[in-house]
Amino acid sequence: MSIFDERRFLIPFRSQLLPQLFTDTLVIGGGVAGLRAAIEAARHGTVTVLAKGPMELSNTHWAQGGIAAALAADDSPAAHERDTLAAGAGLCDEDAVQTLVREGPAEIEWLHAAGMRFDGGDSGVSLGLEGGHGRARILHADGDQTGRALMRTLIDAAARTRGIRVFDRCFALDLCTDGAQRVTGALTWHPRFGLQVLWARATILAAGGAGQVYRETSNPRVATGDAIAMAWRAGAQVQDLEFMQFHPTTLYVAGAPRHLISEAVRGEGARLVDRHGVEIMQGRHAQADLAPRDVVTRGIVEHLAGSGDSHAFLDARHLGSDGFARRFPGLARMLSEYGIDGGSALIPVHPAAHYTIGGVWTDLDGRTSLRGLYACGEVASNGVHGANRLASNSLLEGLVFGRRTVQAAIRDPLPDAVPMQWESKVRTSVAGELDLDDVRSSLRSAMWRNVGIVRDGAKMRDCVDMFAFWGRYALGSVFDTPSGWETQNLLTVGHLMTRAALERRESRGAHTRLDWPAEDPVGPQHLLWRRGEANPLWRAALRAARSGA
Ligand code: SIN
Repeated sequence: MSIFDERRFLIPFRSQLLPQLFTDTLVIGGGVAGLRAAIEAARHGTVTVLAKGPMELSNTHWAQGGIAAALAADDSPAAHERDTLAAGAGLCDEDAVQTLVREGPAEIEWLHAAGMRFDGGDSGVSLGLEGGHGRARILHADGDQTGRALMRTLIDAAARTRGIRVFDRCFALDLCTDGAQRVTGALTWHPRFGLQVLWARATILAAGGAGQVYRETSNPRVATGDAIAMAWRAGAQVQDLEFMQFHPTTLYVAGAPRHLISEAVRGEGARLVDRHGVEIMQGRHAQADLAPRDVVTRGIVEHLAGSGDSHAFLDARHLGSDGFARRFPGLARMLSEYGIDGGSALIPVHPAAHYTIGGVWTDLDGRTSLRGLYACGEVASNGVHGANRLASNSLLEGLVFGRRTVQAAIRDPLPDAVPMQWESKVRTSVAGELDLDDVRSSLRSAMWRNVGIVRDGAKMRDCVDMFAFWGRYALGSVFDTPSGWETQNLLTVGHLMTRAALERRESRGAHTRLDWPAEDPVGPQHLLWRRGEANPLWRAALRAARSGA
């Protein structure tokens, strides 16, 4: 058994010596899922929201494309469901997808009532097209700044709602559980208040994904998988962690972060080309540049492997400088910082890690395998995304499942949390100095090279051993700042992803295995794992009874 199975807490502490706070619902994470959950929960009691950074530093804030929902007269939840299932490569749980697409439109109305304004104005919303969608159904705001507009709406709505207390820049280290494995809150750290124990009747994880585990990622620096690692340590079941979605088009400029270049750009007619102008997606898929994300990513990777080029280009020159800046003002501004005019020059792009498809297992109502613990949004794995998420389904998922999770938590017979005397006796086994930046960058490079878009069993086996070795000293140390805890969480999640990726002996959706190039003939199965178990469990993807969505 490795240290990742042994470690229950990151630091030693005695709860009775720490300040204690109480709340009915504790929401860990302040993006779309967390805030939607908080606003719903405030109708039933007190709510505390923890955000690791400033509120605007979440994946939600960065979302460009928009929110997918079947709103057009010629669209339907059934059509949205079909596209989601096709993108998911057989691994979606159909009842989860039906829940998303049927309940999605009401959430858009809810957003509208909360003050969100989508592009299109009085004549009706203007719907965009993205990869894998059979028709235009993506709502967007302020051009390509949908996430920012959504966060503004939700932050304002939360501020207007009585009973919500927000601690930003507050790090949740670990979950508290009672003797019966019920989650009763979390151990937290705040730069001003230090360590505190927050007791809660219900605890909701909504802290996003783990894109930072890869060297090349579109994710902000806060996406370090803390909630997945924390849930794992507490004994919650995780699902399909081997599935990371790679976005085909992130900016490829030396020294620049891998800024996302929204699929909406291809939705407006841009084409992926190589440096000779050859169209990369022609002949690869009927939807060409607007094929599902995994198909386009594979197309680019294969083309580059054949040509030896380091990157591809997005050609959006048909829009012209003004047209590009009008439709994509945020992108135009960002590109201009690197001297690129997206409407008159080719944009250099390369795939990068984008969305954590796997996560903490939940049922359709956000319940995890631990009583009192719920999860929604990117941290959760509820079967909606299968082996490859359909573009712009994630903001919708945060809204639909953020609300559903709270409704389940309210219904569940949970007594108030009773403060317990908790003692964690983590002992340091390593006294030497540790260069955290080096551990982090070594992990991120190894994940990108070996557990990325194209994988191979032998290399991943080496990574599992290497991460276990690094874990012995990185998790054998005790840190007193978030950067140390984040590194420990990244290492934990990287290790779990690699173990799961090794176990999944097939190529499906977001990744290809050189040593297992075909899909498993047994059929699509979810991979479930829990701390302390030597082997994962497998569960067949759920097929819903057809009921005319
Ligand atoms: C994009 O705009 O391409 C990203 C949207 C998403 O990840 O769903």
